[in-house]
Amino acid sequence: MRIGIVGAGGMARALGGGWAAAGHEIVVGARDSARARDAAAAIGHGARGETIAAAAEFGEAVLLAVPVAALTEVLTATGPLTGRTVIDCTNAFEPDTGGFVLSEPAVAERISATVPEARVVKAFNLCAAEVWASPERVFEGRRLVVPLCGDDPAAVARVAALTEDLKLTPARGGGLAQARYLEATGAFLVGLWFGGTDIRAVFPPIEAAFTEPDHA
Ligand SMILES: NC(=O)c1ccc[n+]([C@@H]2O[C@H](COP(=O)([O-])OP(=O)(O)OC[C@H]3O[C@@H](n4cnc5c(N)ncnc54)[C@H](OP(=O)(O)O)[C@@H]3O)[C@@H](O)[C@H]2O)c1
Repeated sequence: MRIGIVGAGGMARALGGGWAAAGHEIVVGARDSARARDAAAAIGHGARGETIAAAAEFGEAVLLAVPVAALTEVLTATGPLTGRTVIDCTNAFEPDTGGFVLSEPAVAERISATVPEARVVKAFNLCAAEVWASPERVFEGRRLVVPLCGDDPAAVARVAALTEDLKLTPARGGGLAQARYLEATGAFLVGLWFGGTDIRAVFPPIEAAFTEPDHA
């Protein structure tokens, strides 16, 4: 698949590196062309560094790997994203006492409202770039799961396939209206996680709580 990556930092390199290694074609777009080329060189496998507009034009899927505060500017620089699967991995985290709060409540929905011609899927926001960059995918016998939220079934399927290409397990988390909960979950759980809580222990297996899981 042709993947355009907007942004040349940690998430661009981590996800781009995995996708390039899995055989996808990558163009990185950044406001600074030297940084775009550096990121492309770090990604390897023939990845190229270009402008933001060129990366957006290239990608059947376009990863937005920039700070939330940059999105308005970046979505102007991309030009129209007609028919593109736009992957939103952003977090609007702001430090707060004992954890994080969100600087805005629904980033993926805002992206979709800004570029309605695109098919937005929220994904990859829960774990750190270092996790996505690591070859380790299975912890305590369980493969890492990536929740996805999006309204367009074909776009969600495309991001699910890209998730599997990284040897991660996609989990359908509902439509884009659910993405705000995924964003809030990120802020809350990462706050607990950084605070030293074992967040993998928050829930028992569902069989331990309900005899019939659909009563949950
Ligand atoms: N890092 C993580 O562990 C992690 C995990 C989950 C989600 N996320 C989310 O993923 C997104 C990217 O994070 P990151 O860690 O990759 O950030 P990063 O390493 O700081 O890289 C950010 C990239 O965005 C570019 N950028 C910043 N402002 C811009 C603007 N106004 N116009 C165009 N480009 C701009 C930067 O370009 P310059 O170099 O020119 O400044 C840089 O290439 C963020 O929304 C973050 O919340 C990060």
